[in-house]
Amino acid sequence: MSAKIRQPHSPISGFIFHLHPRKVAAETIRFTLSFGLGGMAATLFLVLAVTGVLQLLSYSSDSTAAYQSIILMYAGSSLAGFIRNVHHWAGNLLVIVALLHLLRVYLTGALGQGRRLNWLIGCTLFLLVLLANFTGYLLPWDQLAFWAVTIFTNMVTYVPLIGDPLGELLRGSNEVGPATLANFFAIHVGLIPPLILILLIYHFWLIRKAGGLVRSRNGEAHAPMVPTVPTLISREAAVGFGLCALLFLFSALVDAPLDDIANPGQSPNPAKAAWYFMGLQELLLHLHPVFAICIVPLLMLLLLAMLPFLRQAALEPGIWCGGSRGRWTAASSFLAGLLGVIIWVIVDEFVFKISGSEHFLTPWLSRGIVPLLSLIFISGLVYRLLRLRKSPPSESVMAVTLLCLGIVCGLTVIGIWFRGPGMALGFFFLKG
Ligand code: HEM
Ligand code: HEM
Repeated sequence: MSAKIRQPHSPISGFIFHLHPRKVAAETIRFTLSFGLGGMAATLFLVLAVTGVLQLLSYSSDSTAAYQSIILMYAGSSLAGFIRNVHHWAGNLLVIVALLHLLRVYLTGALGQGRRLNWLIGCTLFLLVLLANFTGYLLPWDQLAFWAVTIFTNMVTYVPLIGDPLGELLRGSNEVGPATLANFFAIHVGLIPPLILILLIYHFWLIRKAGGLVRSRNGEAHAPMVPTVPTLISREAAVGFGLCALLFLFSALVDAPLDDIANPGQSPNPAKAAWYFMGLQELLLHLHPVFAICIVPLLMLLLLAMLPFLRQAALEPGIWCGGSRGRWTAASSFLAGLLGVIIWVIVDEFVFKISGSEHFLTPWLSRGIVPLLSLIFISGLVYRLLRLRKSPPSESVMAVTLLCLGIVCGLTVIGIWFRGPGMALGFFFLKG
């Protein structure tokens, strides 16, 4: 029997009880259920909002002064440089943390009734986090920023029909220049953060409405409850403060990158997109642009958005990957995707392109339809084989999803570390 729990009353606890109920199921505060990833993402957003506002004191969004304003942040023993570092590393870390949070939500089967809408909100939040990072990337107005944004806005123009106007809308003119900086600054500061905040409030409300985090079927029936204050709150505080301590320490030791001032006349070699878009840039080296920039990413986004609506995709709630066999399937499919795409890139680079066999068919076929159909065929084969081995449908869908994730991660890793001057393939990261 649960004893009557006395709760302290103060303005702080008043705020806490707006976010949380007074008691939560003991099962849901297990660290290994959520790894505190949602809380980490929320902490990082808070840090970004505070450091972002502080940066407004020293940053100038005028293209003739932007770079200099960043240099000045590091002059003397000013705190501004440290704040920029924190903002930079927090923004980049948020991409990774949000992706891991997305994975944990899916793999612990938290997509059932009452959580579907929250999954879609989450997907939108993830896209907004990417957009926030991308628009922030240009603001230092250095060579890295200028050329990364040039590459990405050029990639956008490959989208059929709307590509050119979309590229122009982003750049605010024909090419990246002062109008782009003004555009990106306004979007970065005035549009994306309020949108994220509104969606986050809705995100938290939907979690409360769903009765808290996901529980196992066993836990639903007879769930021991624990008081939010202090049990849940002390854990959330430990995760939040621990993360901030590590982030601040790292930012004190490692400066955010800054190259020479933007020079539209001289492109660096290699000119690379921001790291979270390197998978797309890598794909562009192998596929027809319409497939690389539009069809393949859209199909993957569609698969992601549809996961909660596919009856076969619902994993056992509250249990990672549906059980130990599922965990093994998940790990091996991810690795298969990662290794498979590495082999494909090497074969394409050193066999197909050199032998000229890529020109055997029209580019639409050899660099578009054939690779896409091969991916669909391999995914179908993985699904079928697992079903024949008596794996439940949810485990088989999970295998296909993690195979795709492995492919995306493989392409990103190759793009970041294994592409050098002229986008040649090699161990360039070893040369520093
Ligand atoms: C999810 C939210 C946000 C993310 C992911 C994000 C990310 C970034 C990134 C990656 C940069 C480039 C940093 C660099 O390398 O120099 C940046 C710059 C900047 N951000 Fe944000 N930011 C966010 C929210 C905000 C907010 C709320 C503000 C202000 C209200 C803000 C103001 C700025 C300013 C002024 C810069 C330019 C200074 C600089 O480059 O250091 N940001 N942001
Ligand atoms: C800025 C980004 C995000 C923040 C700050 C955030 C925050 C949170 C927090 C604090 C929780 C509860 C604790 C936890 O699960 O760790 C949560 C749960 C949840 N999040 Fe997010 N989230 C973000 C992005 C996402 C994304 C990208 C997705 C999926 C596409 C997502 C889907 C969900 C769902 C479905 C739940 C409920 C999980 C359950 O019932 O067990 N969120 N989120």
